[in-house]
Amino acid sequence: MGVARVHPCGHGAVITLDAPQGYLHNVIMSGPASGGEGLWAAQAGPQEAFINSREFEVVYGGARGGGKTDAALGDFALHARTWGKAAQGLMVRRTRRALDPTIARAHEIYSREGARWCASRSAFEWTSGARLVFRHLGRDTDADGYQGHSYSRVYVEELTQFASPAPVNKLKATVRSPAGAPCGFRATCNPGGVGHHWVKARYVDHGDGVPVIEEIRNPFDGSVILLTRKFIAARLKDNPALLGSDPDYVARLALSGSRPLVQAWLEGDWSVIEGAFFDGWGSRNVLAPFPIPEDWTRFRSLDWGFSAPFSVGWWAVASDSLEIQGRTVRRGALIRYREWYGRGARSGGGAGLTATRVAEGIVEREREAGETVRDGVADPAIFAHTSGPTVQEEMRKAGVFFRAADNTRVGRLGALSGWDQMRARIEGRDGEPDLFVFSTCTDFIRTVPSLQHDPMRPEDLDTRAEDHIADETRYACMSRPLISRPPRPPGVPDDIWRRNWGEGRLSRI
Ligand SMILES: Nc1ncnc2c1ncn2[C@@H]1O[C@H](COP(=O)(O)OP(=O)(O)OP(=O)(O)O)[C@@H](O)[C@H]1O
Ligand SMILES: [Mg+2]
Repeated sequence: MGVARVHPCGHGAVITLDAPQGYLHNVIMSGPASGGEGLWAAQAGPQEAFINSREFEVVYGGARGGGKTDAALGDFALHARTWGKAAQGLMVRRTRRALDPTIARAHEIYSREGARWCASRSAFEWTSGARLVFRHLGRDTDADGYQGHSYSRVYVEELTQFASPAPVNKLKATVRSPAGAPCGFRATCNPGGVGHHWVKARYVDHGDGVPVIEEIRNPFDGSVILLTRKFIAARLKDNPALLGSDPDYVARLALSGSRPLVQAWLEGDWSVIEGAFFDGWGSRNVLAPFPIPEDWTRFRSLDWGFSAPFSVGWWAVASDSLEIQGRTVRRGALIRYREWYGRGARSGGGAGLTATRVAEGIVEREREAGETVRDGVADPAIFAHTSGPTVQEEMRKAGVFFRAADNTRVGRLGALSGWDQMRARIEGRDGEPDLFVFSTCTDFIRTVPSLQHDPMRPEDLDTRAEDHIADETRYACMSRPLISRPPRPPGVPDDIWRRNWGEGRLSRI
């Protein structure tokens, strides 16, 4: 075990309480009174908390119009006032067009600070030598171009537009100051977007203003470096500057989207997700574990991955209706009672387990539970011959059998297929779902509810996010499809029709 120490750039400042000078200076400089005539000053509340933060990473996220971009621009103004030439910043957005309004607002703030816009370098430059460069990162690989750069401050706007933290991490590696200025990574974002769930898990879920400490082992000397991070929640009410100058903003925002979307934007509510693909999902789909009755059919579903994550779900099919935990588990409902999600340390990476190891893991879990599972459906890719035995053949040797799942994603000509099947089960009918998940299936609960629509093809989900568990669940749903009730043909008496097709919209499970 190495010795904990503070990163030379002040990354560990919050733990040592030995705040680098610049941070203390920011504290003194903050607040409405600090700016001086016409100079930018933080508003009380989250903006003030943002500029005074001493953590290495600070993410300011939530309501639209909450004052996040202004806080980021203002933060650099204060940093430049204090650190002069040592203040070197980078501000990044996804597109050049999105960068334009930020640059326009930066003109208003920085012209009063004596900085000038240099179009050829796309940067604001201070006479002191301080500089803030504006760039867009259209593709994730564009982040590679920053290797070797040094910035005392990196700001990423709209962090939730990044499907994975990988490109952002590359930018983080540029945060260092040879001149000794205190370094920091700062980001802003709204709920929703392809990166919603990793941003929520890494920052939002730890609570508003709660510092989190991450231990990183130095591969060269084994010492432990402590990196700190924090989330700050943005709410519209904390931006009186906007509400005062544009009182109709709230009304316009309220008219601009669906009810959940407006709630997310107004209140910065991260549990209400714009564009959630499975919008019928709710806490009603989650049950505390209970003993599965012996006579219920059990099967498993698999989405295979070696360099990408793999996912195994164990399902029970209710053979009778059951009242449990205040819910009705209807006959035919699917209950996900166990899962095994294999992923690697790298975001989006696989566990790198062979088919044999995965099959052995499945056998071991079933043996431990004392159950026999005979049926399984899997990604048809496991039957594909490339070189040597197929994944399915390797698994069969280890005693695990799968049949090929129907992997139709999107229905054609009104057929209820793929995602429709899964959505119909999640939503259920008469107020009760036809798909439940045990609360112990934490990877399902982490990934599936926050999946988004594909912006280019809204009937499909956005595959840039972590979708392996959703795929595997889709295979499970397709193996026991719900059949749409056909329209009653003319001439068939109502009682005969009802007797044959049952009372539900979905008649056979
Ligand atoms: N400290 C401040 N001083 C003066 N005006 C401010 C301040 N903070 C915010 N404002 C005003 O509020 C407006 C909206 O704030 P800002 O653009 O920072 O919100 P945002 O949270 O980034 O919004 P979005 O979610 O749409 O990106 C700013 O353009 C500015 O006019
Ligand atoms: Mg903004």
